[in-house]
Amino acid sequence: MKYHYFDNAATTPMDPRVFKAMEPYFSEEFGNPMSVHTPGQIALQALDNARNSVSKFLNCLGQEVIFTSGATESNNLAIKGIIQAYSGKDKPHVITSAIEHHCVLETVERLEKEGKIGATYIKPQPDGVIKAEDVIKEIKDNTVLISIMYVNNEIGTIQPIAEIGKNKGKAIFHTDAVQAVNYLDCDVKKLNIDMLSLSGHKIYGPKGIGAIFVKQGTALKQIQQGGAQEAGLRAGTHNVPGIVGLGKAIELISKEGKKDYDKVEKLRDQLWAGIQKNIKNADLNGSLEQRIPSNLNISFKNIEGEGILISLDMEGIAASTGSACSSGSLEPSHVMMALQNDPLRAHSSTRFSLGRFNTEEDVKYLLKKLPPIIEKLRKISPFK
Ligand SMILES: Cc1ncc(COP(=O)(O)O)c(C=O)c1O
Repeated sequence: MKYHYFDNAATTPMDPRVFKAMEPYFSEEFGNPMSVHTPGQIALQALDNARNSVSKFLNCLGQEVIFTSGATESNNLAIKGIIQAYSGKDKPHVITSAIEHHCVLETVERLEKEGKIGATYIKPQPDGVIKAEDVIKEIKDNTVLISIMYVNNEIGTIQPIAEIGKNKGKAIFHTDAVQAVNYLDCDVKKLNIDMLSLSGHKIYGPKGIGAIFVKQGTALKQIQQGGAQEAGLRAGTHNVPGIVGLGKAIELISKEGKKDYDKVEKLRDQLWAGIQKNIKNADLNGSLEQRIPSNLNISFKNIEGEGILISLDMEGIAASTGSACSSGSLEPSHVMMALQNDPLRAHSSTRFSLGRFNTEEDVKYLLKKLPPIIEKLRKISPFK
């Protein structure tokens, strides 16, 4: 059975061109870029090329790009590294939002519990968009860090990053841009961003690789000790194939991002129109306008998202409830709860996320299989 993949927000398939670029660095080009000999220098050249691709895309300097193992690490480094730099001073204050990915939210919560920071969690509007003014009015004299995601991973809503950047005052502004890189302008100068996290496996690159942009002069301290790699900010031998793959993935977005945007948006709109036409009580979660083109998050009234996922999987269709990390948990999604505070609506939410390799045939197949699944599940639902 052909599998129809609608879970690109959880992870994307690797682009074959990325895989091809990485291949030599698993075998013949195995050098450690910190070594002075020729194999090491060949690896270092590959590293520099990838760094160039990322810095061009972000409109920053090469030395402002730090390679990490993924966005979880980038986000941990951004938050803990800034708080480390301010330790010993008056209790620093951090502003974040209630709809961040767990790796941001739990890092801030932990620092708060440990008494190291004060924290403010900004709630979004019911349409999943945070108001810039709600962030700006919380800035205090001791606010050292603002961390607000560029695009929410569950509902795809775009946050007002440029407006927050413009009004951040003395605070350091970090954004988790994992879900934005494929579709939105990530020019850190234009957006006035001090730190930006991204991840390889959400952009048709490999898993286990990511990066963080750190603006020159930002008071960030290392959080793991070891070698002097990445300007001393990220100790550990470089994942050269991963870095090469990340560089290639970003290069492809620089060249083809607009084409992907248009294609994905057209398919997403076809899917949403088909669902509205054929399924009653299907409510879109999050603003349709302030949204990346790949995401549809829908609550199908009176049925559990988990049931829909299992039925779809049996038909060869992959979707998700909220974020992949919270799937399998009985807790309703913290993002959905922050929007509407409605556990039933949260439990019935299903995310379809499209990508570069989806086709019209995928959308037609999903539109054929979904309505009878919803009808069957509603018949046996205990909620009426
Ligand atoms: C918004 C967001 N931030 C961070 C992450 C974590 O990224 P990684 O898998 O590279 O650690 C994800 C992945 O689900 C995400 O969607």
